[in-house]
Amino acid sequence: MVEKQLHIAIVGFGAAAQAFIPAIHANPAFHLAAVVEPHPEVQKSAQLLGVPVFQQVASLQKLSQLDGVYLATPTPLHAQQAIACLENGWHVLVEKPMACNVAEGTAMVEASSRYNRHLTVGHSHSFDAPIQAMRQIIQRGEIGSVSMVNNWCFTDWVYRPRRPEEFDPKLGGGVLFRQGAHQIDTLRALCLSNVKAVKAKVFNTDPKRNTMGAHAIYLDFENGAAATAIYNGYSGMSSMDFTQNVSEWGYEQPANSRQWYTAYQTPQSADQELAAKQKRAQSAIPSAAPFQPHFGLTVVNGSLGDIRQTPKGLLVCNAAGSTEIQLPSHQSPRDLVLVELEQTWRGKGSHWHSGNWGLENLRICEAALESAATGREVLLSN
Ligand SMILES: NC(=O)c1ccc[n+]([C@@H]2O[C@H](COP(=O)([O-])OP(=O)(O)OC[C@H]3O[C@@H](n4cnc5c(N)ncnc54)[C@H](O)[C@@H]3O)[C@@H](O)[C@H]2O)c1
Repeated sequence: MVEKQLHIAIVGFGAAAQAFIPAIHANPAFHLAAVVEPHPEVQKSAQLLGVPVFQQVASLQKLSQLDGVYLATPTPLHAQQAIACLENGWHVLVEKPMACNVAEGTAMVEASSRYNRHLTVGHSHSFDAPIQAMRQIIQRGEIGSVSMVNNWCFTDWVYRPRRPEEFDPKLGGGVLFRQGAHQIDTLRALCLSNVKAVKAKVFNTDPKRNTMGAHAIYLDFENGAAATAIYNGYSGMSSMDFTQNVSEWGYEQPANSRQWYTAYQTPQSADQELAAKQKRAQSAIPSAAPFQPHFGLTVVNGSLGDIRQTPKGLLVCNAAGSTEIQLPSHQSPRDLVLVELEQTWRGKGSHWHSGNWGLENLRICEAALESAATGREVLLSN
């Protein structure tokens, strides 16, 4: 029997949302029903899709059938919009970080349960094929028990064009919330356990871009594993230097061809910066790539072997030697989000990236912030 298409609307048509369009169009299980976008310039891009474009979420009630929404709006809007959508009877896929703080995230999870609609958090980098494949290798016991997972990611995040609230940690801004959310998601996916303690330091080193632009986070897991998330967004050395020049989205970018924002190139006024951000959104995240996505370098050490990424897949090293595993590259990270989303919305599958999973990522981000402020380890009870 052919199952009915799932009607999805996009709310907020920026960089994250525009990256999802090819995946929605390529997946016959989904039908793009509408876009909600209030900014007149951005609306022009959305109108090219040939679907209704509304200015506010409430207008989605005009649609005769809608299964769910993808919220790709600025983080401070997530909680209020997600709760309104869940109350309207729509499932919600919300971008990471799911909210500005744990209180908001908890209210979203409670609304999902109250209105009996699914809440999914993504895209986050544990959806990526290499991270999913690493997790399966670990779950099969092929490298024994995991002792350490370390992720190093060095980018130009601080100097890319931004809206002012993207720098404010109270509004879900700064690299700890925006990028640490990806790292913590990946480390939890690979350590296969709950985090019991968090210790962190954050760095705010450029007064002209007042934000947490770098961090070192140490996670202690209940099963004995340890993990670190190291991030530097101050546009120095790139972690592509450690990933054979392969970028976050799976493109080969040798040092001399990288689009790399620096302190000197940042637009001056807020309007200039917003215009530059809107322009960048049209091509920031490609839909298909020749190599696997790399969120920096992730290395797993286990009692019987180690794993790291390669441009085309994974390298597994154990007593039998080193084996390179090639992974399929025909599905982008967003394609893989839709695979899980279809299963979830149809009531099948495990719903790994649930609201509760995203909420735990946020709780760990908040604990890292608290640890950085107090200089102490923060214990988490589960
Ligand atoms: N998963 C990823 O790899 C990834 C990448 C980029 C951003 N993100 C996340 O996606 C979210 C959006 O970030 P972005 O960089 O795309 O931002 P953005 O500013 O590029 O896009 C947000 C869009 O929402 C619109 N908007 C503002 N108010 C709105 C409202 N009330 N209703 C509907 N639309 C509204 C804005 O006009 C803008 O076009 C953030 O939570 C961010 O962390 C995730």
